[in-house]
Amino acid sequence: MKTVTCTAPVNIAVIKYWGKKDEDLILPTNSSLSATLGQDELRAKTTVAVDSSFKEDKMWLNGKEEGVVSKRIQNVFRETRKRKGNQDSVDGLNQKIHICSENNFPTAAGLASSAAGYACLVYSLSKLFNVQGEISDIARLGSGSACRSIYGGFVEWQMGSLSDGSDSIAKQVTHDHHWPEMCILVLVVSDQKKHTGSTQGMQISVQNSTLLQKRIEIVPNRIKNITKAIIDKDFVTFAEITMKDSNQFHAICLDTYPPISYLTDVSRQIISFVHQFNDHCQQTKVAYTFDAGPNACLYLLEEDLPRVVSLVNHYFPPQNNGLTLTIQGRPVTLQTPTQE
Ligand code: DP6
Repeated sequence: MKTVTCTAPVNIAVIKYWGKKDEDLILPTNSSLSATLGQDELRAKTTVAVDSSFKEDKMWLNGKEEGVVSKRIQNVFRETRKRKGNQDSVDGLNQKIHICSENNFPTAAGLASSAAGYACLVYSLSKLFNVQGEISDIARLGSGSACRSIYGGFVEWQMGSLSDGSDSIAKQVTHDHHWPEMCILVLVVSDQKKHTGSTQGMQISVQNSTLLQKRIEIVPNRIKNITKAIIDKDFVTFAEITMKDSNQFHAICLDTYPPISYLTDVSRQIISFVHQFNDHCQQTKVAYTFDAGPNACLYLLEEDLPRVVSLVNHYFPPQNNGLTLTIQGRPVTLQTPTQE
């Protein structure tokens, strides 16, 4: 038996991906941009194995066997096998694959678990099958946002324009250690599975949200401006674009019919808290962003972390307001997926 084990971190989008123009190839309606966390915080760990005795492809997620190996995983297998290297790699075309994957955080609670999971799977398979060159496009076939977790630091998923998706790939915006003062604080409001998954939610938004069509025009400028803010380490501009983009994404969810609402009262209290804190400081010091769930990700600089953590603990104590967990991370000690 040949096995490979890797870990891959989650990424937190500041310019959100929401909408596909091709469901099979997972080609987005807009480019997106995120920061990948370090390996120690929120990560997936995956072991892939091949052996001539395996009769079928199988998968275990957090210790539980999944009924069927999904179409997306099969697409990932197919593409990986196609690009299999020659030397010293396994007989990928014929052998069946077993996957064992676990997250060190709640799955499907809007914490980008699929991004870390698929990035990790694709990275592990690329080692097993000795695939060389670009692999973010293979990760994209598993879950769109996963392509960004292939790289560390701030990463853009460029939507691309080719119909085969070959230019819909992730690219690092700057090198991993560009902005070492930047921190991320994840506030877990709920670790319950989300009611409408991202895949389904964005499908309905594409079908009937007029705001989504407008957003497609707005995003290119935002990507340009936030990229400049990251390169210049201009936190105020970075934070304002991040919050506006999160708000616009959730506005699209409400503009979808029937509406999708991912934010809860506690999420909205966190938004108010951040704006009040920034007003009090007379400067934008903290930015919030929310994915397809109620949990908040706060971006802030290291010098403000102790004060913000203590205020969060004061205003959102676990027993009253239901913050089940806070996790501190950094988008800068960034490593790409790593093999163990
Ligand atoms: C709100 O990547 O989970 O987190 O491509 O259908 O698997 P699929 O969707 P997914 O969507 C993520 C949506 C988001 C925004 C983002 O991460 O950019």
